Amino acid sequence: MSRKKVAILISGSGSNMLALLDDMQADHPAEPCLVLSNDPAAPGLAKAAARGIDVASVDHRVFGRDRSAFEAELMKPLLAAGPDIVCLAGFMRILTAGFVSHWQGRMLNIHPSLLPRYKGLDTHARALDAGDARHGCTVHEVTPALDDGPLLGQADLEIRPGDTPATLAARVLDLEHRLYPAVLRRYAQGDRTPLFLTSDAA
Ligand code: GRF
Repeated sequence: MSRKKVAILISGSGSNMLALLDDMQADHPAEPCLVLSNDPAAPGLAKAAARGIDVASVDHRVFGRDRSAFEAELMKPLLAAGPDIVCLAGFMRILTAGFVSHWQGRMLNIHPSLLPRYKGLDTHARALDAGDARHGCTVHEVTPALDDGPLLGQADLEIRPGDTPATLAARVLDLEHRLYPAVLRRYAQGDRTPLFLTSDAA
């Protein structure tokens, strides 16, 4: 059976992208076909190129507030690469319903909270401010509603006394790097059963 082609969208360091690339290197139902960013200077682009992965970027700043014009350009390298699956991985642009509807049902995102709690930004500070005992990350299918959509996986950990947004973010990021590859493996085989992980060092 041929491997599913995966395009990965990033905005910055691409640590989740690297975790996905590492996992796809061997014995995997999917393979990377493109790493694409809204920022030509995204450090993740050089890391992907160094691994021989096709990369592209479309600078969203060129299009100002015209999201549709930006997305029309973003679609070009994506359609050229022809992915079966699109993974948003640290991608920080909000996508319009038009763009999402084209990829819906084959586009995933990872979000640093236990959705449906804390959609949007500053999730770690919000969990701390709320006095939550546990926090984590979620992989979901992307729908037009922000940080919504069918749950594909969650990983959680215990918030520790003295945790700051930075220390919590670092531990959640480690969980993300375990969760996203595990979910993509299943998803690429057509398995949409939600996966639940928990941190060993909870
Ligand atoms: C991660 O917390 C991810 O969940 C969020 O952006 C952060 C950076 O991701 N969307 P990465 O290191 O660029 O993969």
